Amino acid sequence: MHVHRRHEWELPESAVTPESVYQTRAAGRRRFLAALGIGVAAALRPARTLAATVGFPSSPNPDYDGRGLEKTPWELVTSYNNFYEFGTDKRDPKRYANRGWQTEPWTVEIAGLVRNPGRIDVGELVRRMGGIEQRVYRHRCVEAWSMVVPWDGFALKRLIEFADPTEEARFVRFVSFFDPDAAPGQRRAILEWPYVEGLRLDEATNELAFIATGIYGKPIPNQNGAPLRLVVPWKYGFKGIKSIVRIEFTREQPATSWNRMAPHEYGFLANVNPQVDHPRWSQATERIIGAGLFAERRPTLMFNGYARQVAHLYEGIDLRRHY
Ligand code: MTE
Repeated sequence: MHVHRRHEWELPESAVTPESVYQTRAAGRRRFLAALGIGVAAALRPARTLAATVGFPSSPNPDYDGRGLEKTPWELVTSYNNFYEFGTDKRDPKRYANRGWQTEPWTVEIAGLVRNPGRIDVGELVRRMGGIEQRVYRHRCVEAWSMVVPWDGFALKRLIEFADPTEEARFVRFVSFFDPDAAPGQRRAILEWPYVEGLRLDEATNELAFIATGIYGKPIPNQNGAPLRLVVPWKYGFKGIKSIVRIEFTREQPATSWNRMAPHEYGFLANVNPQVDHPRWSQATERIIGAGLFAERRPTLMFNGYARQVAHLYEGIDLRRHY
């Protein structure tokens, strides 16, 4: 059963303004708006300016400038999406994630086995990370389609250094938002909500692991996981959890949404691997989104083309068994 409660990340204005000031202001504003016939919810909605734009313009990272890769057009990256909180059709997220769902202000909680736990506003977090950079990455879904996306954001490693995990921490668990009033998919048991994902700590501190706050140099649209989402380009897209509200450091491997739903189809590691087929389809090739219906499929690359950066993480592990 899903019970809706007020969540930590729905920071009321009272959290950032002294209580007395807030009370008088809010009451005055409600009277004023009532006189105008404007709904309180609509009028209190903050302008999309603060956290979402922090850090822009981002600086291109020359190691990931996308040379040799053909970028998928913005229009496709932002209209062909998986975000089951807003429906299971690829067009649903664009449509339903932009009907009043608020991604600002947004607070992220850092918790678990860390020396620096707490809750932090996304804009402030980006400032603490020292700004943002742009990296062009391949993006490969377990459904065997692929894109190339210029993400803006910061290395997850920086956030981990900021959180300062204790020696006991071995995994990082990420939790997405839960708000069935705003997210129609969460009113149905498509998955167990909220969406959860996880990485081993050594994967999370790999140079490739990235937190995206933008795409194509602009704040990340709601349908792509505003205001911040994980990007781990050597893994299948479902590991790239969107709209994160909590980052927790644990000793034990955390349960993850798709693995819990169908353990023999979706592993915890979920590394892109042309040699390990999904039980219901081949992973040997992929369909390039935007290339056209009759375009040839492309061979899938081991670790999605990032073996140089990540292969060492899996030495001694049988990736056919542990997928
Ligand atoms: N995160 C949440 N919270 N909910 C989701 O349904 N879908 C995942 C991942 N992150 C998903 C999610 C899947 S299956 C993929 S392929 C990618 O997001 C898609 O990201 P994109 O829409 O930006 O291409």
